Amino acid sequence: MRGLPASVEIREVGPRDGLQNEDPVPVADRVRLVDALSGTGLRRIEAGSFVSPAAIPAMAGAEEVMAAIDRRPGVVYSALVPNVKGAERALAAGADELEVVVSASETHNQRNVRRSVDASLAGAAELITLVHGAGVPVEAIVSTSFGCPYEGDVEPTRVAAIAAALRDGGADRLSFGDTTGMATPRRVDDVLDALDGVGIAAAEVGLHFHNTRGTGLVNVLAGLERGVVRFDASVGGLGGCPYAPGATGNVVSEDLVHMLADIGIDTGVDLDALLTCARLAEKIVGRELPGQLLRAGPRTRTVEASSA
Ligand code: COA
Ligand code: ZN
Repeated sequence: MRGLPASVEIREVGPRDGLQNEDPVPVADRVRLVDALSGTGLRRIEAGSFVSPAAIPAMAGAEEVMAAIDRRPGVVYSALVPNVKGAERALAAGADELEVVVSASETHNQRNVRRSVDASLAGAAELITLVHGAGVPVEAIVSTSFGCPYEGDVEPTRVAAIAAALRDGGADRLSFGDTTGMATPRRVDDVLDALDGVGIAAAEVGLHFHNTRGTGLVNVLAGLERGVVRFDASVGGLGGCPYAPGATGNVVSEDLVHMLADIGIDTGVDLDALLTCARLAEKIVGRELPGQLLRAGPRTRTVEASSA
């Protein structure tokens, strides 16, 4: 397809965003999943989060996960942190990159991390300085960028202003989260326009979609058309949405790789190996996951040619 990037980077977020929305699973299974994923060609894996275990019981024991995984050279193992305490834990555990989250909407930020957006922005700058002191990069994620479950629409100019503050606070990378699956291609366009207005180019940002309302892959395509080359996805579609019981999780990693392969966009990921991981993820959580390829199997020119 004309005008689309030749390659994209997929960050696998199943072990964090996926599993944090599932019933807690043992550390050994989380380690097994991360290790299987690192063998697929994925270059970035969000291995867990260092948050309060009272807030997110499924992420308890993140230190043990980081200590037990088989660190594959060339793979970046990242961790989400909500505060300085989380950053200190993640650094001690040897995370390669940290992610700090600020919601674009006041109510969501308050409920997620119990602070105002302004306090989170100040906290993020402090945290970034601390983490940079340890020589580790920090990505800032602006969640509820495409809509908020409490406040509804979020002004794209507000998203852009928060992103600019995080950039000025020293963030090495920026990503934008569709935390509860409210994005559509129009909203993706609007946010990318607003970011452009504050000097943040589409080619520099990451996009994080949830498939809650079935718009995950079309949102990816909308991003690709604007030149975005970084996307988050979760294997099997692990996870869900804390605000929509029973809803599906992130964009499905193997469905995304499959679509991109057929378009001719390189991800460096072995689709068969990723499907094996998706089946492992199903076993670990003990339920059928929403990934479409798990049921229908791959059927693309690329896959047929390579297995011929
Ligand atoms: N890791 C482990 N424990 C932590 C922690 C961290 N990063 N941050 C705080 N705590 C502990 C404190 O030590 C304290 O423990 P105590 O009660 O035994 O003394 C307790 O949590 C409360 O600390 P406080 O600073 O008052 O935090 P809080 O109750 O206001 O909660 C957060 C704030 C940010 C720690 C919590 O809401 C959180 O972890 N949220 C993460 C939510 C999340 O992951 N959302 C999904 C990803 S966007
Ligand atoms: Zn998410």
